[in-house]
Amino acid sequence: MTSNKNFDVTIVGGGMITAMQILPSLYHIQRLGKIGKITICGRSVSPLIKLRNDQNLKKAFPESSFTCYPDIEREPADKKFPGLYKDVISKMEPRNIVVIALPDQTHYEAVVQALNNDQHVICVKPLTLKYMQTREIEKLAYEKGLFVGVEYHKRFDDRVGIARMKYRDGDLGEFRMGYATLIEPWYYRDSNFPQWCTAENSDMFTYIGCHYIDQVHLITGLLPVRISVYGTLEKYPNGNEGYLWTNARVIWENGASLSILNGMGYPNAAPGGNSQGLWMFTQGEQDGGLLCHDDQYRGLKHSYIAKGVEPGASYYNEPSPDYFKLVDRGGEGLTPIGYGYRSIEALVEAVHRVEDNVQGLSNPESLAHRQVAIKAIDSEALLATPANSSFNELVIEAGRLSLLNEGREVEIKYGETAGVMFKKY
Ligand SMILES: NC(=O)c1ccc[n+]([C@@H]2O[C@H](COP(=O)([O-])OP(=O)(O)OC[C@H]3O[C@@H](n4cnc5c(N)ncnc54)[C@H](O)[C@@H]3O)[C@@H](O)[C@H]2O)c1
Repeated sequence: MTSNKNFDVTIVGGGMITAMQILPSLYHIQRLGKIGKITICGRSVSPLIKLRNDQNLKKAFPESSFTCYPDIEREPADKKFPGLYKDVISKMEPRNIVVIALPDQTHYEAVVQALNNDQHVICVKPLTLKYMQTREIEKLAYEKGLFVGVEYHKRFDDRVGIARMKYRDGDLGEFRMGYATLIEPWYYRDSNFPQWCTAENSDMFTYIGCHYIDQVHLITGLLPVRISVYGTLEKYPNGNEGYLWTNARVIWENGASLSILNGMGYPNAAPGGNSQGLWMFTQGEQDGGLLCHDDQYRGLKHSYIAKGVEPGASYYNEPSPDYFKLVDRGGEGLTPIGYGYRSIEALVEAVHRVEDNVQGLSNPESLAHRQVAIKAIDSEALLATPANSSFNELVIEAGRLSLLNEGREVEIKYGETAGVMFKKY
């Protein structure tokens, strides 16, 4: 469903996820005529200069560009503009789109800023680090008839969609026990991560553990009720400390258990982008069931005659065609494929759906119309929204509390008195 409106988009944060997934996806959506101008606001000019000069983006989207704040022609590389995005958002026409691609601990403030300036919001995961903040965002957005979507792109991996249907049709039986892993590459230690993914702000469970919890929920509909997280505190090369390895045990409302290993240590010399996958053991009346997703190895084996120059490059490679790639589909430039693209497209489509058929309506009528669309998206529960995915923030709160207390078990309560607390024995 595409409304006639050509939404302008402001991306806040010009780091890794913007470069590798968000910007190329939006360029393509712009090419399809579903969004208008793209602006990117950074904290300094350096990441924006890198984005402007990115050869892969130039090759794929020779016709595309974005407006930069701060001004890359005038501002020095070392000058910081942490509050500039607020001015940029405040100058946008109402009911366009702000994409938040900032460090985890700054999402809440930026999302509220965008909503208070009447903008629809697409935010990278996690939406916030606190359940109450997510509920506040849900209320504010609904009152204003604005869409907020959380970018959990693994939801758009087709194997998850297939598993969801099989599980919900009863073909897999009931989830009993499983394990998941997502270990990011070692070279992340030399990226921008050590600036913010530090012990006081985040940890590997908070940063990426949520993906498989979100996925198990999407497949089964179950909610997590108890968590214990063990982590090891290590030094980044810049001397900052982070929980670079975590091991979590998540108990679900039906008594099932999922163990999740997260880390920043997938070998640079290894052939994939990271190490990841999900194994779920299930059961029926007569036999056990099994779901096994090797999300790291998607069946491709390449051996190159020269080693690339980018971090983590190796001669032998197992590339994934499923997350995000740019391929030649004819016409000018390249076309993005994969669940990374589909996720951004679905979130932009959701804004169109909320804004569909409201032109010409009075303000109260338009608001009522948009609120109906928001409730429908919430209840379909395919896109993560504050209303249907705030369990993720409870998990993060519980996980942090456990991690900072040597892995003590923390319980999650839902409903009117939702919150987290140490398990009593
Ligand atoms: N699998 C996933 O869903 C996935 C993958 C990667 C990142 N992410 C999320 O995306 C977010 C960003 O991650 P990243 O990998 O791009 O990190 P990054 O460190 O590469 O980029 C963050 C960018 O935000 C900028 N920034 C910080 N404060 C700012 C401010 N006040 N105004 C404007 N810009 C500011 C930084 O300068 C940096 O360029 C994180 O929340 C992360 O959890 C999600």
